[in-house]
Amino acid sequence: MVDIIQNKRDGKTLTKAEIQFFVEGYTAGKIPDYQVSALLMAIYFNSMTESERANLTMAMLHSGDRLDLSSIPGIKVDKHSTGGVGDKTSLPLAPIVAALGIPVPMISGRGLGHTGGTLDKLEAIPGFKVEISEADFKKQVTDIGLAIIGATGNIAPADKKIYALRDVTATVDSIPLIASSIMSKKIASGTDALVLDVKTGAGAFMKEESSAVDLANALVGIGKQVGMDCMAIISDMNQPLGNAVGNALEIKETIDILKGQGPADITELVKRLACQMAVLGHKAATIADAQAMVDQVITDGTALAKFKAMVVAQGGNGDVVNQPEIMPQAKYKIELPAKQNGLVAKMAADEVGIASMLLGGGRQSKDDKIDYAVGIQLHKKIGDQVAEGESLLTIYSNTQNVDKIKSLLYDNIEINHQAQPVQLIRKII
Ligand code: URA
Repeated sequence: MVDIIQNKRDGKTLTKAEIQFFVEGYTAGKIPDYQVSALLMAIYFNSMTESERANLTMAMLHSGDRLDLSSIPGIKVDKHSTGGVGDKTSLPLAPIVAALGIPVPMISGRGLGHTGGTLDKLEAIPGFKVEISEADFKKQVTDIGLAIIGATGNIAPADKKIYALRDVTATVDSIPLIASSIMSKKIASGTDALVLDVKTGAGAFMKEESSAVDLANALVGIGKQVGMDCMAIISDMNQPLGNAVGNALEIKETIDILKGQGPADITELVKRLACQMAVLGHKAATIADAQAMVDQVITDGTALAKFKAMVVAQGGNGDVVNQPEIMPQAKYKIELPAKQNGLVAKMAADEVGIASMLLGGGRQSKDDKIDYAVGIQLHKKIGDQVAEGESLLTIYSNTQNVDKIKSLLYDNIEINHQAQPVQLIRKII
């Protein structure tokens, strides 16, 4: 292990055998934290080549189980987002893509901190179950074309251990380490192809667009090395995505998108990701060909019907598509009036996410319970004109006193005479 640390410290390329040795040894408890910490820091400073990243990904993948989805006919396509506030894209995207005839086996996560989790949002629907057996998962994807569930089995235990160590050794924000961590879990989930939505901006992991591009290239590069077809989008996360932040509110917005009545920004992103998935799933030759197909399944209601079929298959109440009020409702709806006339120049995504979390819509620590009813419904976004006294947003709360939340939001929404237009989709990789 000392030689491996020394090689990386001196800028040499680690061999496949060296990478396997430390991943297997650390997972088995045979290599101590202090040696792996030193190696992680050497990787942080000296980075990794494409082949090292692929070898690290495969070593972490092989530390645990890999879902075998080969019994499901067709090219299975999944999507991964690096996470953001109001990012509910998976929820309308999976049914749209399934409606195109592409099987979508999605394994999603829960939220922690200011970003929400897809599984928590789905659980706002009465009865919806995210923990289902592997056999039922495969059957559901075969029968109706999609399922969104929590991780089953023992997925990449090496990543779990290494991630926990990175968290306490200031080595989380290393592109090769992030990319191999994400890809090991995605390959383990058994998908054939993958679309990646890499966020950039104040509310994202990668604040600078150039770092987001580097991460996207690293992710797609690993995909190429291991034979998984991948595409990436770089998208803006300076302000929340869509207008709804909060679990039941985001399900309602999902239904609106599937009815063709969703906010423009998230609708554009969902459609673009769906087109990429259509190309990866070999249903369309080009993005331009896919566009008409995606519009069609929204207009004719088949995408909404797929969403309803998934809800019902996973034990949820399918009436939610026409009666979203069957989800938990907040006691109080409190407006946040603009203090002046002008243009919305800033609406900090992470702070709006924190406001929703403080209302009870997210978790501050892992075991916190979620209040599905609460959250924030935006009426204005960056670039919109607003008049003094006009509502910027509605706070959905189960407590009457939201003074602290209001000041947090006022502090993070700027009204000015000029606003930089937001370019939602920055790049395609
Ligand atoms: N998400 C992951 O799964 N891994 C990382 O390293 C960072 C974000």
